[in-house]
Amino acid sequence: MSGQRVCVSDFEKEAKKVLPKAVYDYYRSGADEQHTLGHNVAAFNRWYLIPRVLRDVSAVDLSVSVLGQKLSMPLCVAATAMQRMAHPEGETATARACKAVGTAMMLSSWATSTIEEVMSATTTSEGGRGVMWLQLYIYKDRELTLSLVRRAEAAGYTGIFVTVDTPYLGRRWDDIRNHFKLPSHLSMSNFSTASLAFSEDSYGNDSGLAVYVSKAIDPSLCWDDISWLRKQTHLPVIVKGVLNGEDAAQALNYGVDGILVSNHGARQLDGVPGTMDVLEEVVKAVQGRCDVYLDGGVRKGSDVLKAIALGAKAVFIGRPVLWGLACQGEQGVIELLELLKEELRLAMALSGCRSISEVSRSLVRRAELTSRI
Ligand SMILES: Cc1cc2nc3c(=O)[nH]c(=O)nc-3n(C[C@H](O)[C@H](O)[C@H](O)COP(=O)(O)O)c2cc1C
Repeated sequence: MSGQRVCVSDFEKEAKKVLPKAVYDYYRSGADEQHTLGHNVAAFNRWYLIPRVLRDVSAVDLSVSVLGQKLSMPLCVAATAMQRMAHPEGETATARACKAVGTAMMLSSWATSTIEEVMSATTTSEGGRGVMWLQLYIYKDRELTLSLVRRAEAAGYTGIFVTVDTPYLGRRWDDIRNHFKLPSHLSMSNFSTASLAFSEDSYGNDSGLAVYVSKAIDPSLCWDDISWLRKQTHLPVIVKGVLNGEDAAQALNYGVDGILVSNHGARQLDGVPGTMDVLEEVVKAVQGRCDVYLDGGVRKGSDVLKAIALGAKAVFIGRPVLWGLACQGEQGVIELLELLKEELRLAMALSGCRSISEVSRSLVRRAELTSRI
């Protein structure tokens, strides 16, 4: 019997006990010395909440509309690869949990369940289905890339998050030491050949995933490829992995519908700031012309609130979902999402906000500015 889980780190502690070491290491790790991994969490503490009082917070509404979909809260699930390593039901369990809680899931291109089976796991006999978005890696083979988009469209996905921070895989030391690869009973299910499904026998002495990326993913990706993608689909296209105002402004020139401020959970370039420290720069550059989202280090309801106050439309979590999945499959992810939702509700009430539209920039202040007052 597990102990009571009262915060996200309780889920991680329990997950660490049940997961094989190489799997836990793959899920947890950041790149190189993992400075950015710490920055992502610490950056939230550099912002104070400045609450308002006496505002009748007996009812608090967390709901929000994102990419045309009504969600129960502005917290969604980010793409994390290979979820069947955490639990036999993997991505299908996560998708059902998101539907149960009323939020959206971004499915990784590198899922261990197919695009179609994840959507059908959320589909009820009355025809209701979950809100699903596809995270897209652009492969050297553009036809293959496009086939993922077409399959997502056909299955009823309602957005494409194209990852732009991974021309090569970041160096994750534990994965190199563990010669990380998928267990032999699993594969990246959206691909039919062993080389694309990450299920070859040998990847030498390196992280198997780093070898896979260098063979399959296109490092020549540039802005013209975003134009290409934009022309290929009627679905909203969001660039995932922008960290500064210049790139955000550039993205607008290429017709994107949204920008996800992300450093890939600190797994790519170590030494970049925590995402909360660059969010405002991106929001200012965009000037309301498209939605801005954030992921990286979100671990509490108050983190969500701070990001919304700085201008994010919604935020995403990566690792916490894997911990929930490892602890207790679908129920574990539901429990984790409900915990964060309840934390957000409390943080909003204690800040005097009755709805997301009442969360404004004046709710947050840089800690160092506050200490000078
Ligand atoms: C184990 C793991 C696998 C990931 N796989 C992908 C992926 O396949 N595609 C992608 O764009 N991002 C991937 N990410 C990055 C997440 O989408 C997200 O940006 C990040 O996890 C957010 O940070 P957090 O884990 O601190 O919440 C992965 C992250 C982790 C931890």
